[in-house]
Amino acid sequence: MARRVSRKKLLAGTAPVVAAFPLAKLAMSDQATAEAGMNHSSHAAMGHTSMEHAAMGHAAMIGADVPAPGRAGDLDKLLYPPPALPARPGRVREYRLTAIDTELEVAQGVTFAAWTYNGTAPGPVIRATEGDLLRVRFTNGGVHPHTIHFHGIHPANMDGVFEVVGPGDSFTYEFEARPYGMHLYHCHATPLKKHIAKGLYGAFIIDPPEPRAPAQELVMVLNGYDTDGDGENNFYTVNGPAFYYAKYPIRVRRGKLVRIYIANLTEFDLINSFHLHGDFFRYYPTGSSDQFEYTDTVMLCQGQRGIIEIDFQNTGRFMFHAHQSEFTELGWMGFFEVVD
Ligand code: CU
Ligand code: CU
Repeated sequence: MARRVSRKKLLAGTAPVVAAFPLAKLAMSDQATAEAGMNHSSHAAMGHTSMEHAAMGHAAMIGADVPAPGRAGDLDKLLYPPPALPARPGRVREYRLTAIDTELEVAQGVTFAAWTYNGTAPGPVIRATEGDLLRVRFTNGGVHPHTIHFHGIHPANMDGVFEVVGPGDSFTYEFEARPYGMHLYHCHATPLKKHIAKGLYGAFIIDPPEPRAPAQELVMVLNGYDTDGDGENNFYTVNGPAFYYAKYPIRVRRGKLVRIYIANLTEFDLINSFHLHGDFFRYYPTGSSDQFEYTDTVMLCQGQRGIIEIDFQNTGRFMFHAHQSEFTELGWMGFFEVVD
């Protein structure tokens, strides 16, 4: 019978293995370990030769050999937001969100029984300009009651707390989009922790009436997946699959502003973070004013978000990752490919 090993204990017990071979935990679903009749630690230790460990060191974690699920371009709709629109009186911005229960491959060979908006976790990027009337038609196609709770300013009856939407039912959220900034939305049905951890969240951008300077715009939603149901995350990612942007680096141009709308939706762990190698950036907390910090690392509590602006000084490959090394080694890392 498989002994239940907590994630923290596992990491402590297998630190050298995990450090050398970040994907050592990939095959360790409860079912797999139970079938193999061994505990997590021995599975990790036995699964790979020391040669493989050496080959899979951090330096090698880029490009086609990275065992991340998905194909190139799969996450484009989550990474690249729809364009900002200048303010126009009376405009209505409409979105349709449907709660869908689905299996997601969150790390190579590891599936997660997710609750999603429109089939992905995170859900689609919602974007409006301050002053637009935002209309979001929500249908619950799942088997549990759900809602959509938006951050921002809106009436109490549009807050996604009291108007719980049962399976098969619909609700239309409608309110003026404000204030401008980087926001988020997530399910607020109870138990809240579970509804968020299952995947019901996404980025919500409200643009200022006068659009920001032109830029290469990206969205990064930081999250985690508890694939064995023990109340702790087994993987950490940006926008979905573990190590995806190590396999498919994000191509950007030197000399052209890069703007990242970033939000932390990680459940269970108190904080997450974003760290950039080889450069500094301006960080605008919540994106709601022009005050910024010039730094290379930001710390984000759950629900905290902001806007990062980078002017890359050099071409080449630059890593970005959580500065919690544990998160990095469990999937939350990637690369920018900076070109001229
Ligand atoms: Cu829910
Ligand atoms: Cu919230």
